[in-house]
Amino acid sequence: GLEVINTIAALKSLLGPIQLTQQKIALVPTMGALHKGHVSLIKIAQQQADVVVCSIFVNPTQFTDPKDLEKYPRPLEHDLKMLSEAGCNVVFMPSVTEMYPKPEAWHIDLGPAEFLLEGEFRKGHYQGVTQIVKKLFDAVNPDVAFFGQKDFQQVLMIKNMVAYFDMPLQIVSCPIIREADGLAMSSRNIHLTAADRKNALVLSRALSYVQENFADKSIPELLKAAKEMIKATPGVALDYFTIANGETLLPEEDKAHHNIVALVAAKVGQTRLIDNMILN
Ligand code: PAJ
Repeated sequence: GLEVINTIAALKSLLGPIQLTQQKIALVPTMGALHKGHVSLIKIAQQQADVVVCSIFVNPTQFTDPKDLEKYPRPLEHDLKMLSEAGCNVVFMPSVTEMYPKPEAWHIDLGPAEFLLEGEFRKGHYQGVTQIVKKLFDAVNPDVAFFGQKDFQQVLMIKNMVAYFDMPLQIVSCPIIREADGLAMSSRNIHLTAADRKNALVLSRALSYVQENFADKSIPELLKAAKEMIKATPGVALDYFTIANGETLLPEEDKAHHNIVALVAAKVGQTRLIDNMILN
């Protein structure tokens, strides 16, 4: 069954003996409001580890908009049911004071990509993300942690942190899970009205267009077409659409580069959505 744990001390006494027996522990960090994207991470984790720990913590330090934090969905019963059904072993659900007993002001130098894309539109976001992820790594001490490619820049920032501090765990990036029509699953999708839901499809359509035409068209042509598709859609306000180097996140001009990704962020009605597709 699913063990529900609320404190770091209880987590350490549960996992300590398991670690001594050389069993492999996986961590899947989440903010709850779980959907099939989160479940896919749990399933991949189960294939690669003996014990799967999922954390549910709506981390206040990574929210740049207080209203976004306030309205973040917290369907606890639903989440516990999802985790039980997925066969997750442990859920760690700490309080805010458990994770932040006193104010903290430390920062991590995550490299220049921190300030691009999401980092430009959500100032300080990746400091908040890496702050809580480091605390979760310290609490769980996992052998491996699983993240979604849905948050492409987040995985990059976490990989940078792990590399810079030589943290003793492996980071695995997992594929984006989509609705049947292509919309990337997100905890924020429940905020979309029926009209928003239709309009939001332009994001995955524009990304697919770029992916399908990558071999035949130039990068400027692809960007122009994608941005025009999005701008022609009512109720969608584009923050960025870029074809970027997957390591630096700077605009990529060389189609022959081995790691190119198209990334998009837009406000659809009142809801801000992100998505991406790897192009090669
Ligand atoms: P959250 O948005 O809940 O996402 C938890 C994990 O699920 C992240 O690694 C995210 O990339 C992944 N995920 C979300 N939607 C997905 C989809 N459609 N397909 C595949 N994976 C998906 O990301 C966070 O929480 C937080 O920033 C966190 C890392 C927990 C730190 O607070």
